[in-house]
Amino acid sequence: MSDIPAPIDPTKTDAWAALQKHYDELNAEGISLKKWFADDPTRVDRYSFDVNDLHFDLSKNLVDDKALELLVQLAREVKVEERRDAMYKGVHINTTEDRAVLHTALRRPASEKGTLIVDGQDVVADVHEVLDRMYAFAERVRSGEWKGVTGKRIEHVMSIGIGGSDLGPVMIYEALKPYADAGIDCRYTSNIDPNDMAEKVKGLDPETTLVIIVSKTFTTLETLTNAREAKTWLLDTLQKQGAIDGSDESKAEAIRKHFVAVSTNLKLVEEFGIDPENAFGFWSWVGGRYSVDSAVGLSLIIAFGPKRFEELLSGFHDMDVYFQDTPLEKNVVALMGMINVWYNNFFGFDTHAVLPYDQYLHRFPAYLQQLTMESNGKSTRWDGTPVTCATGEIFWGEPGTNGQHAFYQLIHQGTHKVPADFIAFVNTPNPTKDGDQDVHELFLGNFLAQTKALAFGKTADEVRAEGTAEWMVPARVFEGNRPTTSILGEALTPHALGELIALYEHITFVEGTVWGLDSYDQWGVELGKQLAKQITPAFHDDAALAEQDASTKALIAYYRAHRE
Ligand code: F6P
Repeated sequence: MSDIPAPIDPTKTDAWAALQKHYDELNAEGISLKKWFADDPTRVDRYSFDVNDLHFDLSKNLVDDKALELLVQLAREVKVEERRDAMYKGVHINTTEDRAVLHTALRRPASEKGTLIVDGQDVVADVHEVLDRMYAFAERVRSGEWKGVTGKRIEHVMSIGIGGSDLGPVMIYEALKPYADAGIDCRYTSNIDPNDMAEKVKGLDPETTLVIIVSKTFTTLETLTNAREAKTWLLDTLQKQGAIDGSDESKAEAIRKHFVAVSTNLKLVEEFGIDPENAFGFWSWVGGRYSVDSAVGLSLIIAFGPKRFEELLSGFHDMDVYFQDTPLEKNVVALMGMINVWYNNFFGFDTHAVLPYDQYLHRFPAYLQQLTMESNGKSTRWDGTPVTCATGEIFWGEPGTNGQHAFYQLIHQGTHKVPADFIAFVNTPNPTKDGDQDVHELFLGNFLAQTKALAFGKTADEVRAEGTAEWMVPARVFEGNRPTTSILGEALTPHALGELIALYEHITFVEGTVWGLDSYDQWGVELGKQLAKQITPAFHDDAALAEQDASTKALIAYYRAHRE
């Protein structure tokens, strides 16, 4: 049993009761953003925040001063600040795995060596020891000093991992593509579906390819299967090309030159045949979905260089410091987390859209899905007792304007209300004109139009005034009061991206703390993994088939009947 104090039931706090009362009053009066904006010329100022590279406008949320005040009170009553400080200090707040939660240590500067000793470990010194090794390795690959088995420089990196060992690196690789300056392109293979690997190796020359196997545990079925497949592909193709003679020594040398690994389990890495010299470690106190700023980001250092990675880390760190040092009332990270609680638990809005108006952020929603839903999609609290209220919104999204032509209909007029975060940057690396029209402005005009339409809507009278036939008026009315947060930045730099990721990590933390969750375990993914092992033999083994339920049996029968 953990000695972490039991979670405080949020529903039993004074703040919760006051929030419920306030919610009922607001609804009785009728919530109207239009009216709130008209009555209060300082609303936008009061609800806007500047944090380093990012500007936040919370004014189009369904909150007033009293709601915010009570939400802060709730955060205090459930001890968000105390748990945050405990997390930063390395207390084992991940109770079900008895681990510290120290992703914030991954971005502490080297000057803080010696200031954080956890379980006898100088955490910051360890982090920088691995960072320095990664930087040195990446520089050798980038400069061409590191050569493949036939003496050619590396031009492609194939990173193999899944979940936290994939989504973060892919998202950042896509986001920072304009910074790729070494002529090295990265591909990411995650799915155990053989089609993923088959497509990713297309056009790849193994002589110029470096494979990075990324797995915290080095036991994950998908990653290890793909790693073996990549090994076979690399060795067979090299042999076919006459690049190696196929002897054991030639194969071992090829693996040494073309395979590196990132893991907390360096013993298994060595057993796989990877030279321990080419393995980069991290620690059990880094959760998979919080690991992109550890050695898991190796492909990014190769693509963008150590300096850019340092900038990314400093963006994370600046947001960590802001979250820790800013009183909750003015702390936009805490407020965004608490507003999510407000929507989830009082309004019953159980999904949350993330809509980047930046094509480079096209994998950001997918990344956030793991971060938020693997962290907070839980029904049991950190002391093993059941949760007392709804937890974990469903996060989803697509980059604008693609989403506008797909699901925005539902966001504007559907019966579900979907709070949404709109994210955009003022400057683009690809300024473009269409005639006299700045295309980036056309793009951001859409961002502003959508957030305005969602907040203020369009009344029946406005629709009528356009000459719409009366029976069709209701179909064209937009009720408004659909909440959004706008996040703007100067440019999508490594530093700004680090801040943005840390922002959502801490929002997830705030919500998880209110709900009493251990946001750092993921037991919910285990049953499926176990059953897959049990079921897979049933495709060809009758005894294994006989043990299955009727539906599984019927589906396997269909498979057997149709498999060529
Ligand atoms: O999906 C479960 C999970 O454990 C994630 O939390 C993790 O990011 C992913 O699998 C990959 O795990 P590993 O890095 O150990 O291969």
